[in-house]
Amino acid sequence: MAQTTRTASLTIDGKTYELPIHSPTAGPDVIDITKLYAQAGVFTHDPGFTSTSACESAITFIDGDKGELMHRGYPIDQLAEKSHYLEVCYLLLYGELPSAAALEHFETTITRHTMIHEQMHNFFRGFRRDAHPMATMVGVVGAMSAFYHDSTDINDAHQREIASHRLIAKMPTIAAMAYKYSIGQPFVYPRNDLDYASNFLRMCFAVPAEDYVVDPVLARAMDRIFTLHADHEQNASTSTVRLASSSGANPFACIAAGIACLWGPAHGGANQACLEMLKEIGSVDRIPEFIARAKDKNDPFRLMGFGHRVYKNFDPRATVMKTSADEVLDLLGVENNPLLQIAKELERIAVQDPYFIEKKLFPNVDFYSGIILEAMGFPTAMFTPIFAVSRTVGWISQWKEQLADPAMKIGRPRQLYMGPTARDYIDIENR
Ligand code: CMC
Repeated sequence: MAQTTRTASLTIDGKTYELPIHSPTAGPDVIDITKLYAQAGVFTHDPGFTSTSACESAITFIDGDKGELMHRGYPIDQLAEKSHYLEVCYLLLYGELPSAAALEHFETTITRHTMIHEQMHNFFRGFRRDAHPMATMVGVVGAMSAFYHDSTDINDAHQREIASHRLIAKMPTIAAMAYKYSIGQPFVYPRNDLDYASNFLRMCFAVPAEDYVVDPVLARAMDRIFTLHADHEQNASTSTVRLASSSGANPFACIAAGIACLWGPAHGGANQACLEMLKEIGSVDRIPEFIARAKDKNDPFRLMGFGHRVYKNFDPRATVMKTSADEVLDLLGVENNPLLQIAKELERIAVQDPYFIEKKLFPNVDFYSGIILEAMGFPTAMFTPIFAVSRTVGWISQWKEQLADPAMKIGRPRQLYMGPTARDYIDIENR
């Protein structure tokens, strides 16, 4: 429990209410308004939750002004450089870095859960071939509750644990199958002798006629993309998972809800939108035109991959991603990649522009990730599914934390009602 350090006073119509202030281990203090309505008969109003904390959490911390992101206290740049995705999964789920034995056990458990129920193959075949892989993933992950109902009881700790492992293990398989289905190729089964990232690359790119030999540098880049997206505290999709779960919904339904939310272009869909934007810009000399559009209030266009609700200085994930983009393109022998050139020039111009400086808009994680993924051979439609694979562990860690929280209640925001007041029904002939 957070410490209550002092109180804030709120005076309404001459009457003063004392509101407890909680001090977190890091970040700004939080005024507790849970009893405000009961005591003062008023709500607070905060669309978009810009100043509202909705839960207590000990998983991830972001300092947006300093550009810091930490998982369980460990800075993301250290994790991206020294750790790997499954170790970060363990850290997020259980709170501490694993011992060598614990990590081996965890990796074996995840590896042994990568296959999906064979009957789910038929389920995939019900989708149109041209469906976006995210559409397929929302459906298939939601349907897991129909295939794995032995791990849907949220009150059973063992079932919660199995559901967590199943989701982390099967998500790459499901994303790869959604991709294979969309391009009309046969599904590729997972292989237990490969690590998490290599296995995913192989399931996406191998065909029965020709195996896919995984390049360790690409596998490392893939793993780093998974690591950088693993969790991001109370973002829109995570909050969606928490809200869905607050009603007692099963984990597969909650994660499907998270995937649906992630799909939007303001959130996980930004990586696809960003690459499409770079292609639309097409050449460095057209950048000023697009910068002007982004600044024009009458034009809905925004620079995709720019800006963040929390980061107001730089996104530490973007820094690692930019280096990774250089490494991957180097390895693939892609010299002077035009999209990377446009991206770097766009960043250079935008960060010097008063509009972007004043509004504190910087490249976010999605600005460079698309360039790496495209160089690896992924079509743009797969960018957001890859984000979903990575973020699954964050969603699950937050879901588990919420279920264990004694303060957990069904999520139920209030509203500022501006509709008509009570009026009598008018019979149709009199309207
Ligand atoms: N290009 C141009 N102007 C922008 C941009 C942008 N990318 N982002 C924000 N602004 C302007 C916006 O018009 C507003 O101006 P004003 O104050 O004059 O009305 C001001 O900056 C504040 O924007 P906001 O929409 O109120 O800020 P927000 O915190 O609600 O939105 C955001 C954050 C990430 C949704 C937004 O910056 C955005 O739409 N960015 C592009 C999409 C994107 O890259 N999303 C990925 C986020 S990182 C990955 C993830 O978490 O999923």
